Amino acid sequence: MDPLAFITALARDAGALLRDRLNDPRRIEQKQPQDLVTDADRASEALIVERIRDAFPRAAILGEEGGAYRGDGDERFIVDPLDGTTNYAHRYPLFCVSIAYERAGVLEAGAIYAPLLDELYAARKGGGATRNGEPICVSTIGAVANAMVCTGFNPARYARNGRHFGALSNLAQAVRRDGSAALDLAFVATGIYDAFWEFDLKPWDIAAGWVLIEEAGGRVGAIAGGPLDLDEGSILASNGAIHDEIQSALARADAG
Ligand code: IPD
Ligand code: CA
Ligand code: CA
Ligand code: CA
Repeated sequence: MDPLAFITALARDAGALLRDRLNDPRRIEQKQPQDLVTDADRASEALIVERIRDAFPRAAILGEEGGAYRGDGDERFIVDPLDGTTNYAHRYPLFCVSIAYERAGVLEAGAIYAPLLDELYAARKGGGATRNGEPICVSTIGAVANAMVCTGFNPARYARNGRHFGALSNLAQAVRRDGSAALDLAFVATGIYDAFWEFDLKPWDIAAGWVLIEEAGGRVGAIAGGPLDLDEGSILASNGAIHDEIQSALARADAG
C-alpha cells in the first residue's frame, strides 16, 4: 500500500472522529499543569495505531499518547493523534491530526488534517506538497517587516519566549500564537505564515510539517542554526527568504 495514500486517508478518518466528538462531554486529564490529554486524543490514537498495525504490521510507531511499537523493519510512523489538545478542550477550532511516514531514517511522507477547516495537507519526499489535492508553495515575502510569523510556547521557557515574541512583534507585520504546531507548519507550507519557530517540540509535532515545508519550497532548521534534529525539536521553519533574518532577530533577542 502506498504510504502517503494510507496516511492521508488515516488522518482524515481520525480527524472526522475528533470533529464528531467535539461537542460531546469531555474527559480531560492533566499530565502536568498546562499539559492536557482528553478522551478524544486517546480515541484518535487508538484508531490510528490499530489501522497501522493492520496495514503495516512490521512498522514501528511513535505516538504521543503511548501508542509505541518497536517494529522489526525499517519503517516508522510518527503520530500526533490530536495536535492542539488545549484548543480542542476549549473548542477553539484550530487543531489537527499529524502523521508522518519514515523509512530507513528518512522522512518520506507527511499528512496533516484540520477537520474543522476540512483541510488536508499532504507531501511526499520529492513529489511536492498539496492542500486538498492542489499544489501549494511557501510565500515569497522577502523581509520580516512584511511578514506574518507564528510561534508556540513551552511553559517551561516563558522568559525566553517572551523576549522572542517581543522582538518579532517589533519587527514583523504580525506575530500569531495559534496552539497547534503541526497546523502552524502546514500554514507555513501554504504561504499563510512566512515563518514559525518553537523550542522543545516533539517528533510528532514536527515530522509531517517538516516534509510539507521542504516540499513546498521552504526551509527547516534548528533555531540555533544548522540542521533540525527531530528529537531535539527546536525548530525554525520559513519560506526560506526570511530565514536568516528571523534567526538573527531571535539570536539578538537572546543576547539582550
Ligand atoms: C502542542 C501544540 C502547541 C505547542 C506545544 C505542543 P499537543 O501539542 O502543538 O501548539 O505549543 O508545544 O505540545 O500537546 O496539543 O499535541
Ligand atoms: Ca500533548
Ligand atoms: Ca502536538
Ligand atoms: Ca497531541
